Amino acid sequence: MEICIVGTGYVGLVTGACLAEIGHRVVCVDDDLEKIATLKQGRMPIFEPGLDNLVTRNRREGRLSFTTDLKEGIEAATVIFICVGTPPLEDGDADLSAVEQVARQIGELSSAYKLVVEKSTVPVQTGMWIEKTLKVYGGGKDDRFDVASNPEFLREGSAVEDFLHPDRIVVGVGHPRAERLLRDLYEPIVSGDFTCPTHGVCREAGPIPFVVTDIKSAELIKHASNSFLAMKISFINSVADLCELVGADVERVAEGMGLDRRIGRAFLNAGLGFGGFCFPKDLQAFVKIAEKCGYDFGLLREVDRINELRIVQAIKKLKDHLWILKEKVIGVWGLAFKPDTDDVRYSPALALIHRLLAEGVAVKAYDPKAMERVRQQLPSLLYCQDPYEVASGADALVVATEWKEFGDLDLPRVRTLMRRPLMLDGRNLFDPLKMKAMGFEYLGMGR
Ligand code: UGA
Repeated sequence: MEICIVGTGYVGLVTGACLAEIGHRVVCVDDDLEKIATLKQGRMPIFEPGLDNLVTRNRREGRLSFTTDLKEGIEAATVIFICVGTPPLEDGDADLSAVEQVARQIGELSSAYKLVVEKSTVPVQTGMWIEKTLKVYGGGKDDRFDVASNPEFLREGSAVEDFLHPDRIVVGVGHPRAERLLRDLYEPIVSGDFTCPTHGVCREAGPIPFVVTDIKSAELIKHASNSFLAMKISFINSVADLCELVGADVERVAEGMGLDRRIGRAFLNAGLGFGGFCFPKDLQAFVKIAEKCGYDFGLLREVDRINELRIVQAIKKLKDHLWILKEKVIGVWGLAFKPDTDDVRYSPALALIHRLLAEGVAVKAYDPKAMERVRQQLPSLLYCQDPYEVASGADALVVATEWKEFGDLDLPRVRTLMRRPLMLDGRNLFDPLKMKAMGFEYLGMGR
């Protein structure tokens, strides 16, 4: 099928590359000249495992191309995916101006039938507004456009894998024609009938659930899923606080809870809380749209509040042990909002560092992928070559992101390098007993 992707951020680029990988012809459009130039030179604007190989191969084989010309992209395609950003406004609402602008342009520039698919995370009722916009700017004809909602469930760091091997595909449609097109488009993934770049032929995986709903329900599935996962994290973080008060271990509690198949172990990792460009903003946007529609989603406001408190509590723990923070040297392992990504947007690690700096701490830091991104916004940090350099001379170390390589370090060496062997393990990466046996003053999260 001929596909146009508008917006080449994480979602757009992964969607475009993966749809090309399963055999479609894809044109990716972005108005960021520099980004398109980078992609045309065969370089990646973001770090995402497996993505560069996919982009390179599909470009070479002629199924994937990049342009800044939206008209060219629209003319070439029957299905257009809107993947532009929906950043948060001051009041937590989602800024939908880019979505509206693209819908308007599609309306004006299309001369034949188009299926317009919202892939960006948007509040419920956005599809309805896209439909209206296409109609008004498309000259009033009703049958030239269909609109569908097709939310993404891609985690940064495993986005390619999540796209090609999803738990489910959700499409919200208002017309059987749209459903037919989307079924055809996703058929190779649903049936596993494609050669997967990591596993080869995946046919034995079995059919992937293809959930068809109305547009509004699909929009809600996205916001509700992200908010539910965020709720699980804040829940276990609250349990972690209680564990500390009574002397229990949250890891064991999560394990015992998670074995119940109705609960599941995933997203019950206590720590510094959730960050990234999805959960914090989606949670707020969900609360906001609910409020606009007349529902007070107090439950989710509390989820957000608990998450904000994680950093405050981490600082308190450091103060409880170091007494005075001013002029202490504190090392931070990890800057990305989670491992396997260079994304630092709404990173709990950065929230913590900002507070440490405000207390007058000298902060040293290392991250395997994200240092370049932070260097511009935080020039006062001491950026280190490796985790050992971070530990050297430090009064305390904080594990802020659970990169696998931190788990494989020579910990006795780390301890001897530190001025004081105090470790705040903000991601429960290490075993408390082993750490204490090695001579660390070890502080976990809820252990
Ligand atoms: C999230 C969702 O998991 C995806 O399904 C969704 O498509 C995506 O948002 C999106 O809306 O685009 P992502 O933001 O990449 O994906 O990251 P997650 O793996 O979900 O982690 C989010 C945050 O929660 C991270 O800061 C992570 O460290 C934290 N987390 C996660 C915990 O603190 N504890 C856990 O048990 C799990």
